[in-house]
Amino acid sequence: MGSSLAGSCHLWCFTILMTHPQPEQVSVPRGAGFMAEILGCTLSRSSCGPEFTRIESISGLSGADPEAPTLPQSSLPRCCRRGLPRAHGRAMRVAVIGAGVIGLSTALCIHDQYHSLVPSLELAVYADRYTPHTTSDGAAGLWQPYVHDDGNLQEMLWNKETFDYLLGHLGSLEAKEMGLFLISGYNLFKQPVPDPSWKNIVLGFRNLTPKELELFPGYSYGWFNTALVLEGRSYLPWLTNRLTQRGVKFFHKKIQSFQEVFAQGADVVINCTGVRAGDLQPDPALQPGRGQVIKVRAPWVKHFVITHDAEAGTYNSPYIIPGSEVTVLGGVNQPGNWSEENSAQDHKAIWEACCQLLPALQKAKIVQEWSGLRPVRPSVRLEREAVRRGRARSEVIHNYGHGGFGITIHWGCAMAAARLLGSVLQEKRLLGPPQSRI
Ligand code: FAD
Ligand code: BEZ
Repeated sequence: MGSSLAGSCHLWCFTILMTHPQPEQVSVPRGAGFMAEILGCTLSRSSCGPEFTRIESISGLSGADPEAPTLPQSSLPRCCRRGLPRAHGRAMRVAVIGAGVIGLSTALCIHDQYHSLVPSLELAVYADRYTPHTTSDGAAGLWQPYVHDDGNLQEMLWNKETFDYLLGHLGSLEAKEMGLFLISGYNLFKQPVPDPSWKNIVLGFRNLTPKELELFPGYSYGWFNTALVLEGRSYLPWLTNRLTQRGVKFFHKKIQSFQEVFAQGADVVINCTGVRAGDLQPDPALQPGRGQVIKVRAPWVKHFVITHDAEAGTYNSPYIIPGSEVTVLGGVNQPGNWSEENSAQDHKAIWEACCQLLPALQKAKIVQEWSGLRPVRPSVRLEREAVRRGRARSEVIHNYGHGGFGITIHWGCAMAAARLLGSVLQEKRLLGPPQSRI
C-alpha cells in the first residue's frame, strides 16, 4: 500500500474549530423508508491536510469499471435531475470513518445514491486499518443472522435487504471478484428450538431428517438451508476499487475525535468504526465479542456446519464454514475480551471440537490462525446526531455495532445510513423534497 504526503493538497475548510462540542440527539425514524426517493450524490475531488497520509494505491486495484451502475437521469425525480446549488457556495464534504465492510459499503451506497444529484458533494474515507487488516477481512462471510434475534424487526429487514441485494449480484460477472457464492449447510442443536425469523429469507429452509441427524452424533435437532458467502478478503478490495474509480479519497489515519474531522472541513461524519466506536464517543452498550478461527485447506468440505449451544452462547461452539479457498473453523465468542492475539487454548478447543464434528479435518492443512473482535451491541446504532460547533451545527451519522452479523446486514444498513444523509442534504437544501412513490 503506497502512501505519500500531498504537499499541494489544500485543507478542507477550517472555518470553525470547537474544543468542547455538546452532542445533541436528533430524532430521526430509524431505517424508515421515508427518504427512499432521495437519490444521488457526486464525488468531486477531496483534498488532504498535510498531516494526512493519503493512500495512493491499493494492490490489485486498477482499471476502469464498465460495470459501475449509474442512475439514468430520466429515473430521477424532476427536482433532482440537475445539479443543485452548493451549500453556501462551497462543497458539501462527507467523511466516512472506517474501512471495514460497513464503512466501505456505506461510502459506496452514498455515492450510488447521490452522485448525480449533488455535484458539490465530496466523499473521503478515513481509517487506521484497511483490507486485509480489518475484522471484516477475517470473518467467514456467511450470510446468517443470529438464531435468536430478539425480535428486532428493523435489523431483520436490513438483513433481508442485504440478502436480496446479494442474490441480485449472483448472476453478474462481478460475483467472483466480490467473493460471492451460494452455500448450503446445517445448523445443529441439542434440543428442539423455534424456527428462526430468517427462515423465509434464505433458500429452501427445512428441518433435518432423522437420517441427516445420524451424521452428527450428539445433535438431535437441526435445519438445512441454502444461503450466501460474501468473503471480506475479496469484497473489501472490490468495494475499495469501486470507490477509487469514483474518485473517493482514502486517508490512512487514526482519528482521535469527530472534531478532528470537522476541523478538516467535513460537514457530515459517518461513523463506521465498529468495535472501537467507543474511543470517539463513549458507548457503554458496545463491547467486543472476541472470536478466533483456524483457516484450513479442506476442499472436500462443501457444506457449512454450525452447532449451537444455548448455555455456551452464540458462536461459542464449533462451526465449519467452507470458503472459496480455505475452510474456516470456529468458534469462540468472549464478551469483553479485547485481545487480538491468538490463544493456544482457544486453538486447541476449536481444533478438537471441529475434528470431532468432522473427523477428516484432522487431515486438513492449517493455513492461518486469526482473532478478531465482533462489535457487539444490543442493537445496531444507526442514527443521526447533531454536534454543535459554536454557532454551527454538524452532523454525525452512526453506523456501528453489527456484532457477529456485519456481512449479513451491511447493505441494508448502508442504504439506511445513505437515507439519513439524504435527510441532512435535504435540510441543507441540497436536495429536493422526497417524492411520492405513487
Ligand atoms: P471493522 O471491519 O472492524 O472495521 C472498522 C473500521 O473502522 C476499520 O477500518 C478501522 O481501522 C476503523 N476505525 C475504527 N476506529 C478508528 C479510528 N479511531 N480512526 C480511524 N479508523 C478507525 N459476520 C457475518 O455476517 N458473517 C460471518 O460469517 C461472520 N463471521 C465472523 C467471524 C468472526 C471470528 C468474527 C470476529 C466476526 C464475524 N462476523 C461475521 C462479524 C463481522 O466480522 C463484523 O460484524 C464486521 O466485520 C463489522 O464490520 P465493521 O466495518 O463495523 O468493522
Ligand atoms: C461468527 O461471528 O463467528 C459467525 C458469524 C456468522 C456465521 C458464523 C460465524
